[in-house]
Amino acid sequence: MLRSEVNQEILSILPGKSYLEVGVNRGKTFFEVIADQKVAVDPNFLFDFEAERANPQSKNCEFYQLKSDVFFSEFGHNRRFDLIFLDGLHTYEQTLRDLMNSITCINTNGVIVIDDMIPSTYISSISELSQSQRLSAALGNTDSSWMGDVFRLAFFIESFLPAFSFATVGENHGQMVLWRQTRKNIPERTLESTCRMDFGDSVLQRSVFNVLPCAEIISRITSART
Ligand SMILES: C[S@@+](CC[C@H](N)C(=O)[O-])C[C@H]1O[C@@H](n2cnc3c(N)ncnc32)[C@H](O)[C@@H]1O
Repeated sequence: MLRSEVNQEILSILPGKSYLEVGVNRGKTFFEVIADQKVAVDPNFLFDFEAERANPQSKNCEFYQLKSDVFFSEFGHNRRFDLIFLDGLHTYEQTLRDLMNSITCINTNGVIVIDDMIPSTYISSISELSQSQRLSAALGNTDSSWMGDVFRLAFFIESFLPAFSFATVGENHGQMVLWRQTRKNIPERTLESTCRMDFGDSVLQRSVFNVLPCAEIISRITSART
């Protein structure tokens, strides 16, 4: 299931239709998603965003060629969005900052989606992109996918964000979906232990990610609203 298809399914059940995407790259997902207002943030768009600003088909779009931290502190703090898709720098710390910032500007019934939560291999889960690339090259790997240590966020969210329920889409590489619904029986962990989680934990503790079919996640979000 494409990232844009998951995002569109979620938007279809939300009362408002404003969309923020952090980490846009060539705009594959961004341009496929249909929403009333769309905001794109990336320090290095791989398309001509000045030309897009002048394109009538993109008249509901805004383009911020900035790092997400700058966007949130200078532009995002007084905005509200219904769906925020986090797909920027794939490190635990940066994605945690993006998540904290998103919580301050998500509408009450809004949803946050975090990409690349389930790393496919040990090499793809290394937090340093350059180290991951060096290892791939040394082993002659053709798969250069890098998901970083974003997976550590699952353990953080489970223990430190009880006001949000979450599940991870089973039909793709792991888009985690968060919505406001208080959880009970929160497992105790130290913050430090979440930083030490490794690829093995992402496999052996897969239940933490709560992997579900997209349709089931949509149904749970809908039930939480009624
Ligand atoms: C995996 S790509 C995004 C793919 C896109 N969401 C899609 O679905 O086609 C990751 C992007 O994050 C951007 N990025 C890196 N650091 C960032 C940061 N600090 N803030 C926002 N975006 C960042 C990169 O420039 C890159 O374009």
